[in-house]
Amino acid sequence: MALKIAVQMDPIARISIRGDSTFALLLEAQRRGHSIAYYTPDRLALRGAEVTATVEPLEVRDREGDHFTLGKPRRVQLTEFDVVLLRQDPPFDLAYITTTHLLERIHPRTLVVNDPAQVRNAPEKMFVMEFPELMPPTLITRDLAEIKAFRAEHGDIVMKPLYGKGGEAVFRLAPEDLNFGSLYDLFAVTFREQWVVQKFLPAVREGDKRIILVDGEFAGAVNRVPAPDDLRSNMVRGGTPKETDLTAREREICRKIGPSLRERGLLFVGIDVIDGFLTEINVTSPTGIRAVKNVGGPDVAAMIWDKIEAKRAR
Ligand SMILES: Nc1ncnc2c1ncn2[C@@H]1O[C@H](COP(=O)(O)OP(=O)(O)O)[C@@H](O)[C@H]1O
Ligand SMILES: [Mg+2]
Repeated sequence: MALKIAVQMDPIARISIRGDSTFALLLEAQRRGHSIAYYTPDRLALRGAEVTATVEPLEVRDREGDHFTLGKPRRVQLTEFDVVLLRQDPPFDLAYITTTHLLERIHPRTLVVNDPAQVRNAPEKMFVMEFPELMPPTLITRDLAEIKAFRAEHGDIVMKPLYGKGGEAVFRLAPEDLNFGSLYDLFAVTFREQWVVQKFLPAVREGDKRIILVDGEFAGAVNRVPAPDDLRSNMVRGGTPKETDLTAREREICRKIGPSLRERGLLFVGIDVIDGFLTEINVTSPTGIRAVKNVGGPDVAAMIWDKIEAKRAR
């Protein structure tokens, strides 16, 4: 079954193919004989009832410096496609949210992965709060008194922006840290939104595990160990990917959140687990496919296309 696929993503010329999950998905789609049309978010439009985009046929190759060829642009209705991959990277701002409103109009007649309305409703550090029993103690606010009370109770804390990504502005504050007041002020002027205050998990030194779920089922995992001089495990911040298995607790986390992901049409999801505590449920444009495979794990891209093909065959 050859599918007509469109991918909404940031400029393909700029990606680094060795770690890019979108690229892994596209390579596998092409291998299976699906056709791929490419567009960047700024080529999307809503005209009356029609959702259109100016798309270019895309060919991909796993070759650094020569990883794609684009064909002639044409303006089309997105309902022409069987599947749209929503793979634009955060920031999760009003432009992103507007995109989800547009794509919502064609889903599920055209299967959008992930379901755009659900992506909108499930910002990574907010959605996870539906499972407080799986998380470290966590507070979302910008209220100074609340944060002080939380700090008095938990001592060692982390502060991070609610809509941050890739380890941006993640700070640890030890109980005696005198920088708290200034850091509070800095956050208050820098972010219009509330932010996340969380109990610091010292075992982050052993790593922050990225676990991928496909349609609510465990698919693969990679541990990410932070550099010796950094708190952050994100690979873009120098975290090192390591082979890993799931612990019993991590399997339980997958079992507990799986049904909710499936119900919401969140087909490709990456969760972060530190020391058995769930900290994030990434749904906007999760990564990790290539890292999982590079450490000897399964081919998650193949699992995702198996699922999408099964859904389209129905
Ligand atoms: N509560 C915590 N305790 C210890 N380390 C943390 C905590 N929260 C975040 N970190 C570190 O910061 C990194 C980035 O934080 P995360 O919440 O995953 O945000 P992002 O969306 O930026 O990846 C994590 O991978 C981890 O290394
Ligand atoms: Mg993270």
